[in-house]
Amino acid sequence: EVVYLNGKIIKSHEAKISVFDRGFIFGDGVYEVMVRIDQRFFYKKAHMERLQASLNKIGIAYDVDALEREIPELLASSNLSHDDCLLYIQITRGVAPRKHAYPEGIEPTVLMYALSKKLPDINAVHAKVVTTDDLRWLRCDIKMTSLLGNVMANEYAMANNCYETLLVRDGQITEGSHSNVFFVKDSRVYTHPANTLILNGITRQIVLELCGQLNIEVREEAISLKDIATMDEAFLTGTATQIASIQQINNHYFYKNEAIGTLTQKLQTAFLALKK
Ligand code: PDD
Repeated sequence: EVVYLNGKIIKSHEAKISVFDRGFIFGDGVYEVMVRIDQRFFYKKAHMERLQASLNKIGIAYDVDALEREIPELLASSNLSHDDCLLYIQITRGVAPRKHAYPEGIEPTVLMYALSKKLPDINAVHAKVVTTDDLRWLRCDIKMTSLLGNVMANEYAMANNCYETLLVRDGQITEGSHSNVFFVKDSRVYTHPANTLILNGITRQIVLELCGQLNIEVREEAISLKDIATMDEAFLTGTATQIASIQQINNHYFYKNEAIGTLTQKLQTAFLALKK
């Protein structure tokens, strides 16, 4: 198993990062996750652009273009040139004595690794989800490595034998712990607007584009927790989640069996076609 660390491809057990790395000390860094299917990265440009945007938002001066050119060698060294895989990229502010303010003149720490990963069938998931308070900060648009709020929320799903936890801020559903969420009512698709309260998922953006192509009406409006039972369908989106049908939220069942809603299914079919 190899990783790319600061310009070198090395064995993962030989990779070393300083204990004074600000990623370790403060969670001061950003990341991306993307998948490669049939020897092609899915929406790589969008992921690299979001990574650059996250870096810019937290004032890490680093250009991701050069990094992108290192990916083929990482895949080759990982023996994954021909396999479906997942690529993780993380950039932290770098190593410096512990002081909160951004230090000057340090180099960011850059980590990438690829793992063999076969995505499950798109219609295989019939997700049970729970809801909890959205305890995160107010810049959820930044894809940062400080994920404690997301980790705690996801743990709540696991403790309840659920697939995901939906987060509720001021009575409204924002997103999942590691996915975005959509609702369908009266043939209209609803999802939280892409403001600072959610991560604007690449899969979310693809689904909105597909809605346009399929003449499905979209409202980028948050849905209230109290209105969940009035919705016709619900689904999650994410890089690894793809488009996952939601079967149940808390005590409300959309389906008692493994049915999938009409629009959810339509979007799943259109999404799969993009991967061909
Ligand atoms: N999670 N919202 C949050 C909080 C996320 O962490 C993610 C992705 C998404 C979906 O974004 P996208 O469609 O671009 O994957 C929404 C990644 C995959 C993760 O942390 O592993």
